[in-house]
Amino acid sequence: MSDVILAVEDLTVSFDGFKAVDGLNFYVEKDELHVVIGPNGAGKTTLLDMICGKTKPSSGSIRFKDLDLTGMIEYQITRAGVGRKFQTPSVYEDLSVEDNLEISYPKQRNVLGSLFFRRDRDLREKLQSVSDAVYLRESLPVKAGFLSHGQKQWLEIGMLLMQDPELLLLDEPVAGMSQRERELTAELLGRISRGRSTVVIEHDMGFVRSIAHKVTVLHQGKKLAEGSMEQVQNDPRVIDVYLGH
Ligand SMILES: Nc1ncnc2c1ncn2[C@@H]1O[C@H](COP(=O)(O)OP(=O)(O)OP(=O)(O)O)[C@@H](O)[C@H]1O
Ligand SMILES: [Mg+2]
Repeated sequence: MSDVILAVEDLTVSFDGFKAVDGLNFYVEKDELHVVIGPNGAGKTTLLDMICGKTKPSSGSIRFKDLDLTGMIEYQITRAGVGRKFQTPSVYEDLSVEDNLEISYPKQRNVLGSLFFRRDRDLREKLQSVSDAVYLRESLPVKAGFLSHGQKQWLEIGMLLMQDPELLLLDEPVAGMSQRERELTAELLGRISRGRSTVVIEHDMGFVRSIAHKVTVLHQGKKLAEGSMEQVQNDPRVIDVYLGH
C-alpha cells in the first residue's frame, strides 16, 4: 500500500506560451520532509502556487488524499489541510505575536468548538505549544514588527501550525537568516514535520542536507533528478545546471 498523500501528475502551466512548470510528476508521502531545489526560475514557487490554489494549472492533476485540488479554491484547500508559507514573511506587524497566532486559529474545529470556554482552553494550549515550537514563547506579547527577520519567519510557520495542516508547504524558510537561526530552523522543522508531510523549497545546500528525507531537483519546469541528497548532489546533470554555480 502506498503512503502517498500528495500526487502531482503531468502538471503544466503556461504563462503566455512559456511553460513555467512542464509535465511534472511529483509525489509526497506521509511523514516525509521533501525538499525541492533548482536554479532561479525553475518553477519551484509556481509548483507551490498550483498546489495551494493560487495559480490554475493549464493541465494535469493534483491529488491530496482523495481530493482533486485543481477543482478547489484557496480557502477550501487550506481548510482541507494544506498550509502554505510564502517566500517573504507576511505577518501583521502591528499585532502581537500572540494575536498573529490567534487569528490563524481555525474558527470552528468541530461541533464542540462552538462552546466558547472550550475553544478558549484549546486556544490557550495551542498558543503555548506552537509558540514553544517556534521559539517565540517569551515573545508572545511583543509586536510582530519588533521581531527580527528570522523570528518573523518562525512566526509565520507558527501561524500555519495553529491550523495543524497535514501538508505543510514552505517557500525558502531560512532566506535572510543567520547561521544560528538556520540551525535552529533545521531543528524546528525536524520536530514539526513529524506526523505530517512537508515540502520545503530551499537554496541553502547545507540546510537542505540537514533536513531532507528526499530531494527533487527542478530545472526549466521539469524534474531533473530525484532521490536522497547524496544521490542528487553527485548527479552530473544537477552539478551542471545548479550545484556547480
Ligand atoms: N504569474 C506569472 N506570470 C508570468 N510568468 C510567471 C508567473 N509566475 C511565474 N512566472 C515565471 O515562471 C518562471 C518560474 O518562476 P518561479 O517563481 O516558479 O521560479 P522559482 O523556481 O521559484 O525561482 P526562485 O528560486 O528565484 O524563487 C519564471 O520564469 C517566472 O518569471
Ligand atoms: Mg521561488
